[in-house]
Amino acid sequence: MSNGEPLSRGLLEAKIRALGPWFHNMEISGVKTAPDHFLGDYPNFKWQGFRDILPDDLEGQSVLDVGCNAGFFSLEMKKRNARRVLGVDSDPRYLEQARFAAKQSGLDIEFRQLSVYEVGALKEKFDLVIFMGVLYHLRHPLLALDLLYEHVVGDMMLFQCLQRGDERIPLLAEDYGFEEWAVFDQTEFPKLFFVEERYASDPTNWFIPNKAAVEAMLRSSGFSIIANPEREVYLCQRGLPHFMVQTPPEIVCASIDDQPSAYPHTS
Ligand SMILES: C[S@@+](CC[C@H](N)C(=O)[O-])C[C@H]1O[C@@H](n2cnc3c(N)ncnc32)[C@H](O)[C@@H]1O
Repeated sequence: MSNGEPLSRGLLEAKIRALGPWFHNMEISGVKTAPDHFLGDYPNFKWQGFRDILPDDLEGQSVLDVGCNAGFFSLEMKKRNARRVLGVDSDPRYLEQARFAAKQSGLDIEFRQLSVYEVGALKEKFDLVIFMGVLYHLRHPLLALDLLYEHVVGDMMLFQCLQRGDERIPLLAEDYGFEEWAVFDQTEFPKLFFVEERYASDPTNWFIPNKAAVEAMLRSSGFSIIANPEREVYLCQRGLPHFMVQTPPEIVCASIDDQPSAYPHTS
């Protein structure tokens, strides 16, 4: 694929600055997008810790990256030879960054503005869905998991969620009598901490689960946990949801067909 004339170092730096601030620190033709990131070389240092749970070669596979941000994981999947990669995010500023990063890297990736609540509009199932770092930003986390299960996860899901609280997994009975109170006082009981205002200065951090709650929510929505290479990261496979889960309402984004394709890249 032709990448056009490479930008001079000065122009490249200026363009990266103009597209900022960046949450993903990526190296584009030798220029880092977020060299002073508060988490360090994020997300690359995290990725190095779990990259081996995915196949090195994704030839023939389709990948949907939900909440793709500047596209770090989308680019990694395309570098692994995935046939089709679609990155979606609700924030158009991040999508501009993602389109620029993909174009500069010569990678054919489509990016669309879409909320996780609108994935039904895609009318497509993907071999791998990436859903990293989004759940705790949602006011309706179980709805999002149910919609992903219902509409887009064909086989596997790579998932990450911020966790706080106890990381032990309790042994729980399937049922407790109405008079039982003590079980809820166990710190390891599945819990979602609700943040009314801000956590880490971010007013979009709504529900922060402990480890038991993350795993229970995944299972409840029909995702079997295959691997848990580090505390917050899970590789899941589409299984069967809890018998009481109702099919989520179809939430369709009316304007999806009007959006220009991100390829050929326009930014
Ligand atoms: C913490 S970042 C995670 C980015 C990337 N997935 C990662 O793991 O590095 C959260 C991303 O989710 C996006 N996001 C938040 N709410 C969303 C929604 N309802 N639908 C799609 N993306 C959303 C944000 O715009 C942001 O890019």
